[in-house]
Amino acid sequence: MATRKYTDRMRNTLIFRRFPKGLRALAGTIDAVMKSLVCLISGRGSNLQAILQAQRDQRWEQTLDARVAAVISNRAQAPGLAIARDHGVEAHVVAHDAFGSRSAFDAALAQLIDRYEPALVVLAGFLRVLTPDFVARYPGRLINIHPSLLPAFAGLQTHRRALDAGVRVHGTTVHFVSGELDAGPIIAQAALAVAPGESEASLAARVLALEHVLLPRCIAWILAGTVRLEGRRVAVDGLAAADLLTFAA
Ligand code: GRF
Repeated sequence: MATRKYTDRMRNTLIFRRFPKGLRALAGTIDAVMKSLVCLISGRGSNLQAILQAQRDQRWEQTLDARVAAVISNRAQAPGLAIARDHGVEAHVVAHDAFGSRSAFDAALAQLIDRYEPALVVLAGFLRVLTPDFVARYPGRLINIHPSLLPAFAGLQTHRRALDAGVRVHGTTVHFVSGELDAGPIIAQAALAVAPGESEASLAARVLALEHVLLPRCIAWILAGTVRLEGRRVAVDGLAAADLLTFAA
């Protein structure tokens, strides 16, 4: 993808017409070092927005040789698609309801993802269960953010269930994806104290604010090689416990 972009731009320049071979090789080199991220979404896209903001603010293209190359939604109506386009990121829809089976949908999704040869695939609010075949395609390259402190409250309605259970601590988890729902080696968590009498809406908003910090941070660690999956364990270099578990009162 990146190669095509660079060469399209270059093809129109005089210098490219005079030295096409050399510049084509240069475009290939640029492509070789630039890592692609593909983000999968299903709806609002506030985590995607946080990722794109971090990419811009922290200049990931320069500091990590990485950029979000594409966003894919399984719903055509997802507001997050407009966020992608506003940031100049290619946005696609692979509508799950157009496929007769989960595996047919996942195969089409994987085919599109693989066009970008991503260093990392981020489930940034992607509300579909993925097949083991899909997950196995991206070992150490597939992460998810979940709005609870896993392994507590996998699945939906996490804030409601946390309040019903009366937990005093709640939060969010970023993890490598395994074959089971909302499971897999944990990279980092951000926690908060549940206030007495707190409403579900307040808790959801406070956890979401933590998500927006945690997910871009984990992505940057993985792209930098600071965090990686080794077998079923997450290996980290030079990070303290306080980096991997943050706590908001
Ligand atoms: C987030 O709470 C995320 O943790 C969960 O789905 C929600 C998506 O929100 N997996 P958004 O689309 O990123 O705003």
